[in-house]
Amino acid sequence: MSPLLSARDLTKSYGVQPALRGVDLDLHEGEIVAVRGRSGCGKSTLLHCLSGILRPDGGQVHFRGDRLDDTSEAYRSELRRTRFGVLLQHGHLISELTSAENVALPLMLGGGSRRAALAAAATWLGRLGVAEAAEQTPGQLSGGQLQRVALARAMVTQPAVLFADEPTGALDTLAGELVMKLLGRVAREQGTAVVVVTHDATIAAYAEREIVLLDGRLDPTGLGVAVAVGA
Ligand SMILES: Nc1ncnc2c1ncn2[C@@H]1O[C@H](COP(=O)(O)OP(=O)(O)OP(=O)(O)O)[C@@H](O)[C@H]1O
Ligand SMILES: [Mg+2]
Repeated sequence: MSPLLSARDLTKSYGVQPALRGVDLDLHEGEIVAVRGRSGCGKSTLLHCLSGILRPDGGQVHFRGDRLDDTSEAYRSELRRTRFGVLLQHGHLISELTSAENVALPLMLGGGSRRAALAAAATWLGRLGVAEAAEQTPGQLSGGQLQRVALARAMVTQPAVLFADEPTGALDTLAGELVMKLLGRVAREQGTAVVVVTHDATIAAYAEREIVLLDGRLDPTGLGVAVAVGA
């Protein structure tokens, strides 16, 4: 089976600072891959290149066989609106809207009726255990509630690929594991492929596979720390 999403030899620098130095990844339908590694190793940069938020400096990204990294910003944002769900590490909800409206927004932007969009939003807020936050605005929510509302917004369009950067960082262990179980169910039932960035080994254990980055490269040892050979 050909991969849903594939990346080859991705490189990306910010000025002179290299963040990715040649990363390959294949992601299949219904598969959950965890991306781990210590702070600054390039996890968020990889997620941004895979989802088309950033254009890599080198290498290629294909989604369903079509190249996406060299397409226009308009094409890539359309892809993110219709095929991808993205939860950014420092993502923001719209502060003037309620949680329910924030979650419903991607569906309404896609032409769905307000009523149907709000119904779908209520379903996802319920699944993520934040139904009580539906009528509140982001300023009234805790960090853990905000994270789950943002995840609901990324899931509501039933994306082919969900990109989630530290989706459980503000949650306690139990809530984090509930989120991962839900992602597992969505992957199985809807075929959604999930790339989840996490620093937490307990969370990564819910993925079928994990990759570890070390200074912008895949770490073949999976340890995420530089090891001197012979040491
Ligand atoms: N916008 C930016 N401008 C300049 N340098 C950046 C920028 N974003 C990231 N970097 C640098 O690129 C490298 C990789 O950053 P990235 O955010 O991808 O790491 P990360 O693994 O997600 O870290 P964390 O676990 O702290 O979120 C780091 O050295 C970081 O300082
Ligand atoms: Mg990051």
